[in-house]
Amino acid sequence: MTSCSDAAASSSSAPRKIVVLGSTGSIGRQTLEVAAMHPDKLEVVGLSCHRNTALMEEQAARFGVRHTAVGAEEALELVHLDEAEVVVNALVGAAGLRASVETLSFGRVLALANKESLVVGGDLIMPLADAPGRLMPVDSEHGAIYQCLVGEDAREVSRLWVTASGGPFRGKTREELARVTAADALAHPTWNMGRKITIDSSTLMNKGLEVIEAHHLFQMPYERIEVLVQPQSAIHSMVEFTDGSVKAHLGATDMRIPIQYALSWPERWPSPAEHVDFRTMGPLGLGAPDTAAFRCLDLAISAGKTGGTMPAAMNAANEVAVAAFLEGVCGFLDIEGTIQHVMEHHAPQEVRSLEQLEAVDAEARTRAEEHLARVR
Ligand SMILES: NC(=O)c1ccc[n+]([C@@H]2O[C@H](COP(=O)([O-])OP(=O)(O)OC[C@H]3O[C@@H](n4cnc5c(N)ncnc54)[C@H](OP(=O)(O)O)[C@@H]3O)[C@@H](O)[C@H]2O)c1
Repeated sequence: MTSCSDAAASSSSAPRKIVVLGSTGSIGRQTLEVAAMHPDKLEVVGLSCHRNTALMEEQAARFGVRHTAVGAEEALELVHLDEAEVVVNALVGAAGLRASVETLSFGRVLALANKESLVVGGDLIMPLADAPGRLMPVDSEHGAIYQCLVGEDAREVSRLWVTASGGPFRGKTREELARVTAADALAHPTWNMGRKITIDSSTLMNKGLEVIEAHHLFQMPYERIEVLVQPQSAIHSMVEFTDGSVKAHLGATDMRIPIQYALSWPERWPSPAEHVDFRTMGPLGLGAPDTAAFRCLDLAISAGKTGGTMPAAMNAANEVAVAAFLEGVCGFLDIEGTIQHVMEHHAPQEVRSLEQLEAVDAEARTRAEEHLARVR
C-alpha cells in the first residue's frame, strides 16, 4: 500500500498548470469550477472533449486556454504539453486508459476520476505511480480512504470500507428491476453525475469498479475490502486499523471537495461546498448490499479476484450493455446477463501491454454486442 504521509508535492507560489481531459463532462466541469475558485493556485492549460466542442470552446475562452483536443487520441497530445504538470483524467470508460498510462509514463501527476483506467489497466498503471502524490484519486470513496491514511502506517490497516448509496433501486425485487427504465435509473438519489456512472450506480457495478480501483490504489487484497450501503452518502468511506479503530471521512455530497483535494494535496484550500451541520442530518442508515438482487457487484469482484485481463473483459461488456440500456434497446437485467456471458467466454491472461488490453476490450465488446442482439 502506498504511504500517503510524505508531503512530496511542493507548494510553490506559481499556480500548478493543469490539463482537464473530459472538461465538458460532470467531473470536468466541476474541476473547472475548482480552478475558477483558485486562480492563484491553478492554471488551466489544456482541455479536451468528445463531441461537445461548443462548450469546450466556451471554457477555453473563459480560462484563456490555448490547447484543446477532440477525442481520446488527440487528448494524448495535451498530456505531452511542456507546461502541463497535472492531468485530470475525467474521460469516461476504457477510452481513458491510454491517457492514464501516458500521463504517468511522461512524468506528470495523474488526478484520476476515470476509474475504468485502473479497473482495466491497474497492473500497468500502478508500477508507474512510483512516488507519493503521483496518482491522486478523484473518486470520492478513494479520496476519502486516501485522507484517512494520511499519517498512518499501511501495515496497520486491517480493512477498507467502501461506502455505497445503494442507488435509486435499493430495496427493489428482481421482478421490479426487470421493468425499470433508463429514465428511472438516471434519477440518482444523492449524486449528480454523468450518464454512464449513474447507470453503474443503479446496478451497483460502480461499487464493483471501485472495489477493483481500491485494490490497485491501496494494494489491498479483495478479502479485506468491504462494501457498506450508506444511503445518505454522508460517509464517503472508512479505514479500519489492526487495533479495531476506524477512521471515516464525512462531508457534503459535493464532488468539488475530492476533486480539489486531489489538486491541493498535501494542502487543503477553502471551498464553497456546504459544511455539514451534523445536528440536523438525521439518522444515517448502514447495511450490507443486496448482492442477490444486484449481481453486478459480485461479478465485478469476481473479475477482480480472477485478475489478469478478466476485469478488462468485464468492463467492456458493462460499457456495451450500459450504452444499450441507455438507448432503451435492452433491459436492466440484461446488463448483468451480458457481463456474465462475456466473462464466461473470456480466457484471462496475465496483463502484458496496453495493446493486449485494447484487443481484449475490442473482443469483449463484439461478444457483448452479439449477446445483446440475441436477447433483444
Ligand atoms: N460524475 C461524478 O460525480 C463521478 C464521480 C466519481 C468518479 N467519476 C468517474 O469520472 C469519469 C467521468 O465521469 P463523468 O460523470 O464526468 O462523465 P461524463 O459527464 O459523461 O463526461 C465524460 C467526459 O469525457 C468525454 N468523453 C466521453 N467519451 C469519450 C471518448 N470516447 N473519448 C474522449 N472523450 C470522451 C466527454 O466529452 P463530451 O461531453 O464532448 O461527450 C466528457 O467530457 C468516469 O470514469 C466516472 O466513473 C465520476
